[in-house]
Amino acid sequence: METLITDDPQAAAEVIRRGGLAAFPTETVYGLGAAIFYREAIEAVFAAKGRPADNPLIAHIADESEIGQLSAEVTPAAESLIKAFFPGPLTVVLKKRPEVHDIATAGLMTIGIRMPRNDVARRFLAAAGTPVAAPSANLSGRPSPTTWTAVNEDLGGRIDCILRGDPTEIGLESTVVDCTGERPVLLRRGAVTLDELLRVVPGVTASTGGELEARSPGMRHAHYAPRGRVTIGETPHLGGKAAFIGIGEPIGDFSATMICRDAEDYASKLFEFFRECDRSGIDEIVCRPVADEGIGSAVMDRLRRAAAK
Ligand code: TXA
Ligand code: MG
Repeated sequence: METLITDDPQAAAEVIRRGGLAAFPTETVYGLGAAIFYREAIEAVFAAKGRPADNPLIAHIADESEIGQLSAEVTPAAESLIKAFFPGPLTVVLKKRPEVHDIATAGLMTIGIRMPRNDVARRFLAAAGTPVAAPSANLSGRPSPTTWTAVNEDLGGRIDCILRGDPTEIGLESTVVDCTGERPVLLRRGAVTLDELLRVVPGVTASTGGELEARSPGMRHAHYAPRGRVTIGETPHLGGKAAFIGIGEPIGDFSATMICRDAEDYASKLFEFFRECDRSGIDEIVCRPVADEGIGSAVMDRLRRAAAK
């Protein structure tokens, strides 16, 4: 298949309207989009990524008025979170309407909904005229793509279109909050922090371990992993080629280094650095830990997952 690479949100939206697959930039990571009510298109998303069928997709919208097509039960907590954080890097999980195909939600009765704030994403989604189901635009098990070239590396030749935009602003996937229960539950950490959520909805809890895996199927899959081994710390353990990423100067010599200014900078550079290490055959990536607060919590979450592989 030849992949159309375009800068034109209208052209990419046209691909979606025809039932095709188009990758697009958002403020978090690039997504791989398909019209959510188009069954074959949803099946094609899973096939193109090699994604396990038990991992549900997030529906992306251009406008809050589209929520009604996806869910008929917007809980008060969800309403508050939507008011505070849409458009932005937050996904709310709500009970789904029966019209949303089971394959899109991996058989769950719920659907994740997100309204990106990135300008190119918004123009693309508005032109698509339908909610767009989109996982991150990487091959399953690889780091989420933060540049269009990373999308092309994984999915070029496997999808219809790549809408080319800038490198993504945040670099880590959206915060996911399950709003279906009495108390909202934080399922995935992201740029909207637990503290920020608590300021809007005081009852939010952070799920952990087994509960997290039960409620957010995506969290039990091997995620965010480069080919080299990831070590959280200061020094390598293996004998081969080692790389370093973190805030401040590394201690000792490394084949590749990425020095970050702060936690935001770390978040935005992490996944592309993982890919760069893969391209240059790095055996071990030493990642300096960062304070477990603000977006640093999301960075530490991704580092722990990558290190656990
Ligand atoms: O920032 C993002 O969220 C990016 C961009 C493209 O928007 N998308 C993204 O999608 O990261 P994906 O498919 O790579 O991750 C979706 C996560 C998974 O952990 C999945 O389990 C969870 O969201 N999720 C989706 N729908 C869910 C649902 N109904 N209930 C619980 N968790 C859900
Ligand atoms: Mg993903």
